[in-house]
Amino acid sequence: MPEQLKITVGVAGGIAAYKAVEVVRQLQDAGFDPHVVMTSAAERFLQPLTFAAITGHKVLSSLWSEDAGASGGEFSGIDHINEAQTTSALVIVPATADLIAKLAHGIADDFLTTMYLATTAPVILAPAMNVNMWLHPATQANLETLRERGVRIVEPGAGYLACGMVGGGRLAEESTIVAAVSETLANPGAYRSDLTGETVLITAGGTREPIDPVRYVGNRSSGKMGYALAAKARRRGARVLLVSAPTALEAPAGCELLSVITVEEMRSAVLDRLPEASLVIMAAAVSDYRVARPASEKLRRKGPLTLELEPTEDILREIVERRASGTTVIGFAAETEQVLDNGRAKLERKGVDALVVNDVSGTETGFDSDRNAGWFLTPGETIELPESTKTAMADRILDHALALRMHRYEMKQAN
Ligand code: CTP
Repeated sequence: MPEQLKITVGVAGGIAAYKAVEVVRQLQDAGFDPHVVMTSAAERFLQPLTFAAITGHKVLSSLWSEDAGASGGEFSGIDHINEAQTTSALVIVPATADLIAKLAHGIADDFLTTMYLATTAPVILAPAMNVNMWLHPATQANLETLRERGVRIVEPGAGYLACGMVGGGRLAEESTIVAAVSETLANPGAYRSDLTGETVLITAGGTREPIDPVRYVGNRSSGKMGYALAAKARRRGARVLLVSAPTALEAPAGCELLSVITVEEMRSAVLDRLPEASLVIMAAAVSDYRVARPASEKLRRKGPLTLELEPTEDILREIVERRASGTTVIGFAAETEQVLDNGRAKLERKGVDALVVNDVSGTETGFDSDRNAGWFLTPGETIELPESTKTAMADRILDHALALRMHRYEMKQAN
């Protein structure tokens, strides 16, 4: 039997609170080990004893021992931190308008709201409320804030509401909520906030080196992989510095965009911001050569033209040399032949912690495509990145980057 995953079910004070009982039961049927946390308003609708009896675990509700309700128990100032750190997912059923507002604004005045702030596990909300409360711009704006922070919302259905009205705001089916939990845990990177407190510096796009005021030497990079990484890192809670060469893409919300054109501009932006970064991902396609003497006026057509190219600086090498000891650096390599061998040689040559290698010889993946495939190489491992969308691959790369760092940390502690 695999170990049962612990899921925390938060219950807020709404008429749909009774439906949380069935959600808890179905989570058990799905093989999870649910623990219940209630708000004090929820305790007016349901006895904590109901959940304690079904789950076999103490129901948590208050930060204080005096009014710990039927859960009783000793005072422990860190119970909510312990719960936050040991759970695999927090699912709140029902999420009321008041609770959603508190979560969106970081108000932490009871066990559930405090635990929400303290957890890096995926968070899933199943809202239920009166239709006008659901549609109110305040509620919708709060939900949008939470979505942007990576919280998953199980959309309520429309139907007969307890207030007598008919419309949106009816708690999703219990089985839909349980399916959302299972699906989230199958793809945890998409919803967790494990990059909170980190500054991630990402480069994207293809640099351009001027030939004259209207022409340039460029490459086929679309910037999609770098932008997907920026969006995902942001979603997972990081502060993101996106140093971008020209692309046709819109910068992901919440990222600080630093627009550059040439290698030298990218180099100076990256080195300038490097001290702030705990993780650097160099996804940009950086030109290896620049035109030695770009013309100051537009070149006219008069017979053959020879351009003299000179090598550019290797930004990645400079990052590796100058980074602080705790900064993880990941490079990219687009290869067309002997992909793994070339990738491994490049990993060593560049001195990076990891290198994402992809084969750009095909048309289905790589440049300009929405899909990608490749390998995540570290000095000790070759991990396949199976073909997927660039968005899904971005999560995998971030998962592997965090796992690599954790592994290094554990090795250091062991020595
Ligand atoms: N890179 C860089 N500065 C450069 C060239 C590349 O920082 N002047 C970075 C890229 O952003 C990428 C990695 O180095 O993360 C590998 O880029 P690639 O062009 O594959 O490597 P090169 O060193 O140019 O190797 P080669 O052209 O010999 O394959």
